Amino acid sequence: MRVIRAPQQMGQAVDRLRARGQRIGVVPTMGALHEGHCSLIRRAARECDAVIVTIFVNPLQFGPREDFRRYPRPLATDLRLAASAGATLAFVPPAASVFPPGFQTRIAVGRLGAIWEGKVRPGHFTGVATVVSILFNLTRPHRAYFGQKDFQQAVIIKKMAKDLDMAIDVVICPTIRENDGLAMSSRNFYLNKDERKAATIINKCLTQTTELIKSGIIDIESIRRFMKEKLSEEPLITEIQYASMYSPQTLDELERAGKEALLAIALKIGKTRLIDNMIVNP
Ligand code: PAF
Repeated sequence: MRVIRAPQQMGQAVDRLRARGQRIGVVPTMGALHEGHCSLIRRAARECDAVIVTIFVNPLQFGPREDFRRYPRPLATDLRLAASAGATLAFVPPAASVFPPGFQTRIAVGRLGAIWEGKVRPGHFTGVATVVSILFNLTRPHRAYFGQKDFQQAVIIKKMAKDLDMAIDVVICPTIRENDGLAMSSRNFYLNKDERKAATIINKCLTQTTELIKSGIIDIESIRRFMKEKLSEEPLITEIQYASMYSPQTLDELERAGKEALLAIALKIGKTRLIDNMIVNP
């Protein structure tokens, strides 16, 4: 696996791949790679001729009181994991080459970016969409791979690619979980032993709510109440930001579960913010 830092070199590498007719898959990441990322890289390696993993902790998507500074940056381990999962190129640009002095453009993502995460993290998806579109421009992929765990992010990027005619196939891949059901996330690194144990309540809540819906309880009031009560069982939860049932297409709250519903949760355990979701087909 070749490691590229300069955007110009990335452009030249992509020119060569495209000239040879190779299909390029990109897996954008902020590093701190775990099995979830590796599963995206492996899938990209199965479906594309060349796989570019981008590693860039994007300052634009963090709020002023968020964890940008302490976000884990284990670059050597990341490069090893990316290579063994099948990446052919790792793109690790310095911040100043992604956002040079004077940079001022932003992608406005509209309604989809203002709900859920957008309410709690204003500006977050503008930051995500802006950096992803820069990374898309620098890597010019045919396909881009994102995890379902960040469902809203994946939906927004799919919509951005379509609205802006980017001609990139945005592939949403299943969430990878630990043995006890906790969705893999770089932020799980922040949890201490007790918090890590407490975090399993999220998956329990999602799976038990799924069973409830499958048993015929499909109205939003009952589902919201059930999720809230279930999460209240865990004393280490310091804040529930949202926990409800939504349309996977529009992300609006559903009155009743139809053919397909999405359960989504965002909460804090201690100081750590965790999100997860599950699609239900009643
Ligand atoms: O999901 C992430 O890790 C980030 O939001 C992304 C897509 C790499 C953009 O910085």
